[in-house]
Amino acid sequence: MIETRNLWFGYDKAEVLRGVNFRAARREVTVLMGRNGAGKTTLLMHLNGLLKPRRGEIRVDGKKVSYDRKSLIELRKKVAYVFQNPDDQIIAPTVSQDVAFGPANLGFKEDELKVIVNEALRVVGLEGYERRLCSTLSGGEKKKLAIASAIAMDPEYVIMDEPTAGVDALGFKAVVEIVERLRGRGKGLIVSTHDFDLAKAIGDKFVFMDAGKVVYEGDEVDFSLARKLGIRTFQSGKLIVVPHNTGIPDVSADFVAAMGYKAKERAMKEGINVDITSTVLERSILRAIEGHTVLLICSAEMLNVVRREVVKFPVYFEILEDGKTRVEVKSIGDFNSCVG
Ligand SMILES: Nc1ncnc2c1ncn2[C@@H]1O[C@H](COP(=O)(O)OP(=O)(O)OP(=O)(O)O)[C@@H](O)[C@H]1O
Ligand SMILES: [Mg+2]
Repeated sequence: MIETRNLWFGYDKAEVLRGVNFRAARREVTVLMGRNGAGKTTLLMHLNGLLKPRRGEIRVDGKKVSYDRKSLIELRKKVAYVFQNPDDQIIAPTVSQDVAFGPANLGFKEDELKVIVNEALRVVGLEGYERRLCSTLSGGEKKKLAIASAIAMDPEYVIMDEPTAGVDALGFKAVVEIVERLRGRGKGLIVSTHDFDLAKAIGDKFVFMDAGKVVYEGDEVDFSLARKLGIRTFQSGKLIVVPHNTGIPDVSADFVAAMGYKAKERAMKEGINVDITSTVLERSILRAIEGHTVLLICSAEMLNVVRREVVKFPVYFEILEDGKTRVEVKSIGDFNSCVG
């Protein structure tokens, strides 16, 4: 377990961390989220001694972190840090030299180093890159190399600061796989991200920070709190589906759609202004993906069609009956697991 207790820190006069109590366990992925400037990177940098708190303490497996040289070396063997920008981290000319750098400093011999390098490159999927010049790697490959170099020391905990920033769909998949592989080996992972796709794909625990404090900790993503905190959710929109023959809820929607003549009739009877009346389903889904809240009144017999179609898209979707939520069908995490 990595724990912070009442952690305070500021770069100058202003306090950036204001009493942070944070916990992350082994064999779990703890996802850290929060708006720009909330203090995520600052907190992460405390966890392996890159920053020293003004007040409060950090404990790693129960042991209080201290800041003499020897203790810091021990700490950094145990807690690896993957910087957001790999160029901040890559130091050697070639891939294998970079991965070997840390372990070589710890005194591992040539043949041991070879095994360590191969293994680390295998975990991140960079086999065959040993002799490549780091400067010739693509951005995504550099990210993988930075992870490989961090885990070459066989740490117990791995911190990753925004590992999917600037990464394409394949790179995203690679990051998810790396994280899962590391968790499978019993490592504790602490990952900060603005990427809800990633959060949902890897997270066991979710921690939200705001203005230098932890304001939420739980096993589930709390989307409405996230939105309130200004955390970017992939789709802030939602499709609320209501069969025509039930109570129409009083929700504030950006758009109202009516699908099927019974739904249109009902809307007219209720005096509801309908914005979308043709190619209704496709356009409603699109608007929800764009981040709008769409109230879709549909003829009851079309409910199954709607359900079948909507689950193919990364859209939050709920069916309301008599103003109550009956089912919430879709989350972006499910969507992720069904793309290649
Ligand atoms: N080296 C520094 N010197 C002075 N202020 C800093 C420094 N690094 C960060 N800050 C400030 O500390 C606050 C928290 O920054 P931090 O990088 O921890 O936020 P973050 O949550 O990681 O944000 P982001 O999502 O943008 O990465 C910000 O107001 C930032 O301007
Ligand atoms: Mg940051």
